[in-house]
Amino acid sequence: AFTPRVFSGIKPSGGLTLGNYLGAIKRFVEMQGQGFETIYCVVDLHAITVWQDPDALRRSTREIAAGYIASGIDPHKSILFNQSQVAEHAQLAWIFNCVARMGWMKRMTQFKDKAGKNAENASLGLFGYPALMAADILAYHATHVPVGEDQKQHLELTRDIATKFNHDFGIDFFPLTEPVIEGAATRVMSLRDGSKKMSKSDASDMSRINMTDDADTIAGKIRKARTDPDALPSEAKGLEDRPEARNLVNIYAALADTDVDAVLRDVGGRQFSEFKPMLAELAVAKLAPISTEMARLMQAPDEIDAILRHGAEQARAISAPILQRTYDIVGM
Ligand code: ADP
Ligand code: NA
Repeated sequence: AFTPRVFSGIKPSGGLTLGNYLGAIKRFVEMQGQGFETIYCVVDLHAITVWQDPDALRRSTREIAAGYIASGIDPHKSILFNQSQVAEHAQLAWIFNCVARMGWMKRMTQFKDKAGKNAENASLGLFGYPALMAADILAYHATHVPVGEDQKQHLELTRDIATKFNHDFGIDFFPLTEPVIEGAATRVMSLRDGSKKMSKSDASDMSRINMTDDADTIAGKIRKARTDPDALPSEAKGLEDRPEARNLVNIYAALADTDVDAVLRDVGGRQFSEFKPMLAELAVAKLAPISTEMARLMQAPDEIDAILRHGAEQARAISAPILQRTYDIVGM
């Protein structure tokens, strides 16, 4: 039996968005102290699969760490660290590069989306990214991984890698990790285009709410968010085929810690001109304390770095023996 252990991470490829918060960080906080060991990572090795300016990368790494802490990740309850400071991730990823099959990787839809039409010019790291992600998780024998819906396929690949490793070497060594994809906002969409997910790497800043946006900016982005001309329905099924409308209601429900039907019982029949200010008010109330604390922490980079350094030591204490066992099993 494996120790109940949670691992998850966020890429420092820009600032945190409301999608990262509702799809990931909020769940990370909730899973603390629920009978799991919780391990949260800033995954900088993943960020550099596409070009990152070095100074911007250093800043984003601290900003993601600040976002974790400001949202309620407690370094006394969770291990919080930066991926590149624990070499075991890259070392185990090499083993997994030799376990994963080309055909599996070619099926990854996120690679196809991110590489776009010019896949020949994508980095080898972007292609191999899911094997590194499997290493991030399995270096800790993590049993549960809270993520947004976009990571579902990568979690399946992690299970495929664990299964093949266990089978090839005839040993039940790596767990079959469970994804935890829960809540009203597991896939927050762009505010400008209901067919695209909200992302920190989208070119348009109006497409997302950043965790560091001030109250006026948040209100302005929600006011200008695309919707349709119809009033809000009184039940969730009335949001089918209305992706932009559904997205705003999902965000409201997740921020209010309730479900979509409960929200629609209250606001059904109203126009978006009335609902948007309600959403803006709720978003500001929930996000302002976090962004205030993030701003304070960003003025204290030494405090952040000390937390990450300590977390890296704790992380290595778990992952180094697992890597050694893996080498042993492989015959190294
Ligand atoms: P991004 O796409 O913003 O760069 P990452 O790839 O770093 O985000 O993902 C970090 C975590 O945030 C993952 O668990 C991912 O599933 C979650 N996440 C990212 N975008 C969204 C979104 N729009 N809705 C819900 N969860 C999301
Ligand atoms: Na991104």
